[in-house]
This record gives sequence, C-alpha cells and structure tokens, in this order.
Amino acid sequence: MPAELIDGKAIAETIRAEVARDVAILAAHGVVPGLTVVLVGDDGASATYVGAKEKASKAAGMAGQTIRLPATTSQADLLALIEQLNADASVHGILVQMPLPKQIDPDTVIRHILPEKDVDGFHPVNVGKLLIGHTDGFVSCTPAGVIELLVRSGVDTRGAEAVIVGRSNIVGKPMAALLVQGRAGGDATVTICHSRTRDIASHTRRADILIVAAGRAEMITGDMIKPGAVVIDVGMNHVPDATKAKGTRLCGDVHFASAVEVASKITPVPGGVGPMTIAMLLRNTVRAAQRAHGLAEA
Ligand code: GUN
Repeated sequence: MPAELIDGKAIAETIRAEVARDVAILAAHGVVPGLTVVLVGDDGASATYVGAKEKASKAAGMAGQTIRLPATTSQADLLALIEQLNADASVHGILVQMPLPKQIDPDTVIRHILPEKDVDGFHPVNVGKLLIGHTDGFVSCTPAGVIELLVRSGVDTRGAEAVIVGRSNIVGKPMAALLVQGRAGGDATVTICHSRTRDIASHTRRADILIVAAGRAEMITGDMIKPGAVVIDVGMNHVPDATKAKGTRLCGDVHFASAVEVASKITPVPGGVGPMTIAMLLRNTVRAAQRAHGLAEA
C-alpha cells in the first residue's frame, strides 16, 4: 500500500488560523505584530519568497513591510538599517533574506539583529537556547515546521531512530537539536548524515523517521528507506524536464515514486514542508510581539 501523504498545505493552514486568532487577541490589547523583511539585490527566487512572506503576514492581520535595497548596498548601510529596526518598537520581527551579495557577511548581519526580534532563529543566542532546551528563544522556521508536521500527523518521535541527511545551520543542525529534546516531538535517537558520511544508505535504512535536507535532487531512493518509515523531504530542486512548458520541474531530495511504495507516511514536494516555513515565521512573529508586550503566549 502506498504511503499516506502528509499534507503540509492543510497543516500550515491550521497554524495560520491559530496565528490569526493570536493576532486578534493582540489587537484587543492594541498591539499589531510587525514583521519587516529586508531583501538586498534582485535574486528572482528570493524576491518570490519575500513576496510570499509579506503577503502571508498581511493575510494574518500583521503589519508586514518589505525593504528592498540595491545589490550594491554596503554592509555598513545594511547594519545601520538593522539598528534602526532594532530600535523601532513597532517592528517585532526582522528577517534579512539570504543569500546576501558577496560584499556582505551573513554572520555579521545575523549577529546584529536583536535576538528577541530574530524571527528566523538564526542568531547564536537563539541557536544556543534551542540546544539547551530553553523555549523562550526562536527556532529556525523549517525544522520547527517539520516537528509540527510530525506531531500533527500523529508520528511518535519518542525512542524513534531519526536520521537527518544534511548538516546545514538552517535545517540539519537545528532539526537534530529539536528531535533530541526531552519533550513532545523529541526524545528521538538522532543521527546526522552529510557529504562525508560513509555509506549513507546504511544509516537511512535504520531510520524510523528520515528527514532529508541535503539539496540534492532525488538522492534518496526507495531502496534506501526502511519499510514503514516516515519520510520528510525538505528538498526543493528545479531539474530539467522537456515535457514541462518551463523546461524544468520541481522535485525534492527524495525520489518520490519509489519512496512512496516503501514509507508509511511521506511529504510531497511541493505541498509538504514548503508551506510550513512561512506558517512558522508568522508564529514566531506573533510570539515576538507577545513577548515584547508581556502578553501570555497562547
Ligand atoms: N533564504 C532561504 N530560506 C530562508 C529563510 O528561511 N530565511 C532567510 N532569512 N533567508 C532564507
């Protein structure tokens, strides 16, 4: 029997409705959560993501604004803008879209954002809080979204063998930190595989929960998956496809057609992890506003 699909679009809709409810509660206290997205340069994919973030924040009742800067912007000018946003009480969340032009060091930029406004969860203070298990920081949106997908699909992570393929700071490493915490959505035994791992398949075949965030199209095939495993595909790759009008198609890091025959549950691409990232960004922004105004988190 083919795997059940984990419907990220539907779960993201539920979270967005929860966020809209929290936004209404804040409005009753005279607070409008404000999310400012900064886009430097004219990368097409980044512009699309940023547009989606602004639209989603407005749809949730937030004050969403996007500041677009030219690709030639200096690091000093970007840092000065971040300082202004840090000092602006109407801005609860700041997100600087990555990647940045090469004259700007992303780590310096991330460290400049106040941790309490870092709704991306990239600041070292927030990464450290996540690792320790403190819940008053912000968690990177994609791995936080994966945990929501697992929990809301009834997947029990406790004692499970969780194998992550990919060690990025944005997904792989925070994913491991979340899965190992001693709480709901955690308590797993975690392995991280990466480009230097010997015999990746020997690890992926042990996984009860397999999370793939390697950025390599369809690298995980059905024969690398344990029968009955839960498979979460974080990949978003555009590969050539002459049958499509655009000449490309979108696919994940998992070879869906073979994996769906082996797994018990699987996320599709698109419509799996993707919609969760923005939903979690909205949730982080609401939390930033709640914390800034000393209002209880729902
Ligand atoms: N570029 C691609 N994904 C992300 C993200 O989640 N946050 C930021 N800031 N930039 C990105």
